[in-house]
Amino acid sequence: MPASERSGAGERLRGKHVCICVGAGGVGKTTTSAALALGLSMAGAKVAAVTIDPAARLAEALGLQELSGDPRRLDPQPFAARGLHMRGELWAMMLDAKRTLDEIVTRLAPDGATREEILANPIYRQLSSTVAGSQELSAIAKLYELRNERDFDAIVLDTPPSRNAVDFIEAPTRLLGFLEGRALKVFLTPGGLAARVFGRSTSLVFAIFARVTGLDMLGDLSAFFRSLSGVLDGFSERTRGVASLLRDPATTFMIVTSPEPEPAREAVFLADRLAAAGMSRGGLIINRVHFDGLGGRSAAAVQAELAADLGPSLAARLAANLSDFDVLARRDRHTIERLSEQLGEAHPLLIPDLGEDVNDVAALARVAEHLFR
Ligand SMILES: Nc1ncnc2c1ncn2[C@@H]1O[C@H](COP(=O)(O)OP(=O)(O)OP(=O)(O)O)[C@@H](O)[C@H]1O
Ligand SMILES: [Mg+2]
Repeated sequence: MPASERSGAGERLRGKHVCICVGAGGVGKTTTSAALALGLSMAGAKVAAVTIDPAARLAEALGLQELSGDPRRLDPQPFAARGLHMRGELWAMMLDAKRTLDEIVTRLAPDGATREEILANPIYRQLSSTVAGSQELSAIAKLYELRNERDFDAIVLDTPPSRNAVDFIEAPTRLLGFLEGRALKVFLTPGGLAARVFGRSTSLVFAIFARVTGLDMLGDLSAFFRSLSGVLDGFSERTRGVASLLRDPATTFMIVTSPEPEPAREAVFLADRLAAAGMSRGGLIINRVHFDGLGGRSAAAVQAELAADLGPSLAARLAANLSDFDVLARRDRHTIERLSEQLGEAHPLLIPDLGEDVNDVAALARVAEHLFR
């Protein structure tokens, strides 16, 4: 579907099995991914929404009080009570990065001892729970697993609040480069870099360090790399699978942005990187758009009109408010025009700023309505 056509999310996602929402921090990736999943399931599909750190109230609205390793089916009743009839099925989960990575290690470890060794290793524990990138990695791993082992018609994937959204797109390639690259091999070979780096003088430093801090850095590090070498082949095979899944014709990326200048710049950058990486773009979503406050009239005219019902002082305040809104609306219109041109998208999907957080079923449905117009 050419992006120049005025179409809703339903048409843009037709035939797509995977939809990944990317964008700058805080623009509404989690909100729009949940709304896209809701819209698709209402239209009849069996959909999995994989969310990352949703706000507590949104998680509650989706029945996601706890992190889980797998999507759970949402009860359609609370939706039906609001007149939202789900013809398909909506499944949702909150991604748990550490648990997902542990599952991968569990599957790929050649034996139980290696598995336990890796999982218990302090370096691994640190890496899997805190290191930047572990969320990206686990999101992609979960996606791969759901796509290959479950029968969802569509999977909508939220992405983590990366400092740089491009990190997400490039994570598998970077990881693959690392796993297959010389650096790691050199490091893992007996007598290789590890031995040289951690040679006698260094090990003395580490030994003192260990005595002072109680952390056996050298022991942990070398044990970690030793046991990791057993899972590396499986890991690079998976990573290759993921890299091709991200380029599959049935996979598409939605770029989400707000009309603010910084996220908009990031959207342009992301679009370029997607194209360069040969990944498909399903569309541009501009969230939290302000529309006309004064409806094209002057503040004085609106104030005069309101004064009859509200009295002069309230009317003046309201008109002032609406004209502030007008300033934002003009800024947004300008950003939308520029983005449309830069990204070659004549009709991006626009979601108005709802004036309050989107954290219940009703608000989510309003967002979905704008996306699936
Ligand atoms: N259209 C909207 N109108 C009003 N509030 C909105 C709208 N869309 C999102 N929000 C609110 O903006 C905040 C950020 O949204 P969200 O969590 O979806 O962003 P995000 O891109 O996932 O952020 P992060 O990068 O931190 O993961 C939330 O409080 C959400 O309720
Ligand atoms: Mg988020």
